[in-house]
Amino acid sequence: MSDSPRNARPVTAVIVGAGHRAILYASYAEKHPDELRIVGVVDPDPVRLQRAGERFGVAPGHLFASLEVFTSAGRIADAVINGTMDAQHVPTTLPLLAAGYDVLLEKPIGVAEDEVMELHRAALAHGRKVIICHVLRYAPFYAEIRKRVLAGEIGDIIAMHTSENVSYHHMAMGFVRGKWNRKERQSSMLMAKCCHDLDLIVWMKGGIDPVRVSSFGGRQHFRPEMAPEGAGTRCLLDCSIEETCAYSAKKHYIEQGLWGFYVWSNQHLGIKPSPEEQLEQLRTDNPYGRCVWRCDNDVVDHQAVIVQFADGATATHNMIGGTAKPCRSMHLVGTKGEIQGVMEEGEFVIRKPDPRKGHVYAEERVATNVAGDMHGGGDLRLVADFVRMMRGQGMSISSAALEISIYGHLIGFAADRSMERGEQVLLSKL
Ligand SMILES: NC(=O)c1ccc[n+]([C@@H]2O[C@H](COP(=O)([O-])OP(=O)(O)OC[C@H]3O[C@@H](n4cnc5c(N)ncnc54)[C@H](O)[C@@H]3O)[C@@H](O)[C@H]2O)c1
Repeated sequence: MSDSPRNARPVTAVIVGAGHRAILYASYAEKHPDELRIVGVVDPDPVRLQRAGERFGVAPGHLFASLEVFTSAGRIADAVINGTMDAQHVPTTLPLLAAGYDVLLEKPIGVAEDEVMELHRAALAHGRKVIICHVLRYAPFYAEIRKRVLAGEIGDIIAMHTSENVSYHHMAMGFVRGKWNRKERQSSMLMAKCCHDLDLIVWMKGGIDPVRVSSFGGRQHFRPEMAPEGAGTRCLLDCSIEETCAYSAKKHYIEQGLWGFYVWSNQHLGIKPSPEEQLEQLRTDNPYGRCVWRCDNDVVDHQAVIVQFADGATATHNMIGGTAKPCRSMHLVGTKGEIQGVMEEGEFVIRKPDPRKGHVYAEERVATNVAGDMHGGGDLRLVADFVRMMRGQGMSISSAALEISIYGHLIGFAADRSMERGEQVLLSKL
């Protein structure tokens, strides 16, 4: 394939890992066929491979059951959308870079600092771009805050506080019953859930290095000894309190229809069990039917992180699993003013000291669009920016290239080390 400017035709991409995230990003091609075309799929799961291929009209010869077969087939596209799970990100991206692909890579970049640094070196050595799916940078809420910070509206940032209120049902689905419930399988909960928030903190500080990190956290709530009287092993098998339990799998995944794309494994490709089959799965072998107090989870359910930057500024981030309401908040305090808001409320406030007689501070309310997806509208805006980059049209201020996304990840890895060892961790320069 030629590396000439590509603004005359759609960017072509291959999906590696046809899970719900990659399919969501690839859906941009259905809305904007003049900009992006999916020309291949790689997935060892034969159902996902075939369904994804059909959905995007991929030629049968471009459906690959393994990465090895795909990378040895010669370059067939401009880029790859890598939507594999956390632990596969680095092992799958290394051969893609060697095969000459630029990669849109899901977060977290990797599951350990060493492999993330290895990927960084490989991208430099091969001269390829790796863009990390830090979708919140594209949510209008955060993108507008960043613009205001860049414009100097609150001066130099001195202190920041962010909070990720995961919610009890998201916590139960992802980090107690689900795929991210054990650290040795995928990422820590902080990295899976909050590498975005740690990235936002670094982004807001714009080029100032984080230098040291401390963190505390633990798993207090979702432990066997916390099980209420009458709780069983599965909600629909042997539990006498299912009807009144806030964590009932039947209530979350059938009655409220939450998290279907995780609980019913191929829902994102149009395959969903019947209501009877759903009940039977939750009663028997679906992992999401398990009692939240009797799972094999070992990740934390809350964690606090403190960061210091090279210029002395500080940031605190609080990840709280069991909140009633899911939402993210941000409070930035600078030398000239402050910005505060909750993304899901679609508004932030800029406050500045007001020297006028009778006034204390002036306040500007800024409304932001939150429609679009569960990341405040960030998911497809990120794909649009990736397409612009691939066409040689530059990227927006939200660009999360690997080399700049690494800093938030380094904070996360250091925070987990700090929490586990009970010590402060100094960050080395890249
Ligand atoms: N950006 C975000 O805000 C955000 C939100 C949710 C999840 N994620 C991340 O998205 C990623 C994907 O999550 P998901 O739930 O869509 O995953 P998934 O488990 O649904 O899909 C992963 C797919 O990869 C395939 N796969 C495994 N090994 C492979 C290989 N060697 N080559 C090709 N394909 C392979 C699997 O068969 C599977 O179909 C995760 O890393 C997750 O942390 C990001």
